[in-house]
Amino acid sequence: MHESLIVEEFANAGYQISPDAVALIDSCQSPTTLVEQVLQSLDDSVLVVCREHIRSGDKKSPEKPLPGVNILSDISNESTCVGEYAEFVRYFRDRYTRLSGIIRGRVTARPIESLQAGRRQEYNSVSIIGMVSDTKITSNGNRLLELEDPTGSFPVLVRPSDRDLWDTASGIVHDEVIGVTGSLTRDGRLMIVKSIVMPDIPNHHNQQLGAKETGSGDESSHAVLISDVHVGSNTFLEDAFCEFIDYLGDCSEPVRYLIIAGDLVDGVGVYPGQEHELKIPDVYEQYKCAAKYLKKVPKNIRIIIAPGNHDAVRLAEPQPALPEKIRSIFRDDVVFVGNPALIEIDGVRILIYHGRSMDDLIATIPNMSYQHPAQAMIEMLKRRHLAPMYGGRVSIAPETKDHFVIDRIPHILHCGHVHTVGLERYKGVTVVNAGTWQSQTEFQRRVNLVPVPAYAAIVDLGALDTRMIRFA
Ligand SMILES: [Fe+2]
Repeated sequence: MHESLIVEEFANAGYQISPDAVALIDSCQSPTTLVEQVLQSLDDSVLVVCREHIRSGDKKSPEKPLPGVNILSDISNESTCVGEYAEFVRYFRDRYTRLSGIIRGRVTARPIESLQAGRRQEYNSVSIIGMVSDTKITSNGNRLLELEDPTGSFPVLVRPSDRDLWDTASGIVHDEVIGVTGSLTRDGRLMIVKSIVMPDIPNHHNQQLGAKETGSGDESSHAVLISDVHVGSNTFLEDAFCEFIDYLGDCSEPVRYLIIAGDLVDGVGVYPGQEHELKIPDVYEQYKCAAKYLKKVPKNIRIIIAPGNHDAVRLAEPQPALPEKIRSIFRDDVVFVGNPALIEIDGVRILIYHGRSMDDLIATIPNMSYQHPAQAMIEMLKRRHLAPMYGGRVSIAPETKDHFVIDRIPHILHCGHVHTVGLERYKGVTVVNAGTWQSQTEFQRRVNLVPVPAYAAIVDLGALDTRMIRFA
């Protein structure tokens, strides 16, 4: 609920409302319900609604023993784009500014326009930071990258003789931002690269958990991460999923959160011929069925749902949270976030991203495969960007801010999409791909993709120990 709508609701009922009361309502889980409760609790003596009125209104609702979720970053209700050219320019400028800012801490770079081609220059060691606009192999077997910053563009050359450097350069993709240091050729038209710096997670990065806010006793609470449930598909593994839901009720660990990283339902019209593989052909019925399963999840577990490319929101990323029409189908304590979204639970930051960009990364970077999705996710962390390649499988909406830039380093990166399982640690970040609850589809059989279904990742939010559990 937007703040102006809250003000409007109270104005329509004949009340003014103070800004901090608006903020308080806006920060709660179900603002619409709270507005109704507060309005019912007011009498004629009230002219301006303040925080105190909100509290007394809130008390009428039953206390929920649910843990809180702090949404640190999410596109929902913040979309600015209409798709004009100027927006793309602004989008890429924001990407460049923020990623080059991360690199600038480690490289003293000069603007590209200061390297004037054709002019004699004596730079043995010069650094620039640029967005990669082209990458190709020359006839001599070298790799030529074109780097762009807001002042100009410049070609840089990597020779195969330095193996590590060559390997790094081979994995560089279009539109990522890198820093390079090297020497200029005599005519000043080309740089021979000596080192490449990616934004990356700093080597000294040491995860320090914030102070615990929940009073869950000595035992730290646990989160369960899943993805790609695909309710409605005729290959949805209903028995395994029901077994999983039962486990949430029976397990000995204090599970307080269930996070779903997209594709909760199979959707409709997602790929040609999908109608032949659907058990439930109507998307709302699919969500109703999903809501029925989630209703059986114990009441003290907070469910967080992000969308994926099969869900009923815009396909262009970043995707907003599921619309109200669908949210209203679910129990009212579910937290709906966008894709991607950075949340904080029990002092642990979890970056949720469905993971569509893995299709592009796996197809482009050498030695990546669908069977090892965590490797592709580590490539995102190295680039501090969830979807570096523009114009591939991910359709990116040109928001004013690049929501894929990984500014704040998460404790956990949680993806799905590829329907295979992965669990790794990279420079202190736990990387989890939570797999799927769908067996091999006809489409996957044709493209030879072997899914690894019916897994859930369980995370101890205190120690950050993570393990995968199988339900099949
Ligand atoms: Fe999926």
